[in-house]
Amino acid sequence: MKLKTLLATTALTGLTLLSASASAFSLFGSDDDDTLKLGYLVKQPEEPWFQTEWAFAEKASKDLDFKLIKMAVPDGEKTLNAIDTLAASGAKGFVICTPDPKLGPAIMAKAKSYGLKVVTVDDQFLNAKGKPMKQVPLVMMAASEIGQRQGNELVKEMKKRGWDQSNTAVMAITADELDTARRRVDGSIKAIKESGFPAENIHRVPTKTNDIPGALDAANSLLVQYPNVKQWLIVGMNDNTVLGGVRATEGQGFNAQNVIGIGINGVDAVNELAKSKPTGFYGSLLPSPDVHGYKSIESLYKWVKDGVEPKKFVEVTDVVLITRDNYKAELAKKGL
Ligand code: GLA
Repeated sequence: MKLKTLLATTALTGLTLLSASASAFSLFGSDDDDTLKLGYLVKQPEEPWFQTEWAFAEKASKDLDFKLIKMAVPDGEKTLNAIDTLAASGAKGFVICTPDPKLGPAIMAKAKSYGLKVVTVDDQFLNAKGKPMKQVPLVMMAASEIGQRQGNELVKEMKKRGWDQSNTAVMAITADELDTARRRVDGSIKAIKESGFPAENIHRVPTKTNDIPGALDAANSLLVQYPNVKQWLIVGMNDNTVLGGVRATEGQGFNAQNVIGIGINGVDAVNELAKSKPTGFYGSLLPSPDVHGYKSIESLYKWVKDGVEPKKFVEVTDVVLITRDNYKAELAKKGL
């Protein structure tokens, strides 16, 4: 299925669920209905990344014959309400990408009170002491390694263009409170430093929100501090962060000739790569939202149905650089 069709279908279904989530019984059937029901809760349903996870979880539900309940959980209150709704509908468990890792203990307490099984995806829960809740199964991308790949690809492209490193700088838009984001960005900066890039030209700036407007504001505040930089490399934890950085450079008169941004997620970069003219957004690292979506719910299904406990940690390492030249072919290889 083409990515656009797939995402449109998923987004529409997601919206139906959003608007109707109050009436769990009418929508999902009641407790007496004996079809197995499993939830898939995501923090940012507007990101194609999560829509792709949903689409592949939906595929698993068809292959394995269970009912998938997709829910958007942008904040803590909606997350806890969603768990009530799931329990009322008779669901036996859920996969979740939490809007805030610190909600981990509250989510687990509520799930336990209803006897629901929980598998986490993408972002790991933290306990009250801020330490990872390693006993909760997790499917996650290899954050440091993918970050390092981002740094290496940025340096490779900069060298290919023969840029003078003395007037080139790195804009690293950070979100350190999210462990996967911190590890990706740190990995990227490590790789850039190890290539011999001058450390004093690497600038970090935190974003307030993990979306394009948040990253744009962060990037703007950085750009005004370094008016003499001639070329920018943009680092960030995902496509939207890097896109915010690219949009900010455009506001200061930069373009595809003097900016290289490489995102992470791939599926969130399709519209940008499809633009008629190149922008500073050079490419994106496409991991495996398909694998995250399918494997996480499949492991939950086997846990509920056959009592097979999921592995505590599944790290997904597969990643490919997509650019304007190869993105269609690479997405098609994954069935997107
Ligand atoms: C985090 C990010 C998402 C996506 C996933 C992938 O949740 O916020 O954009 O990158 O990780 O695991």
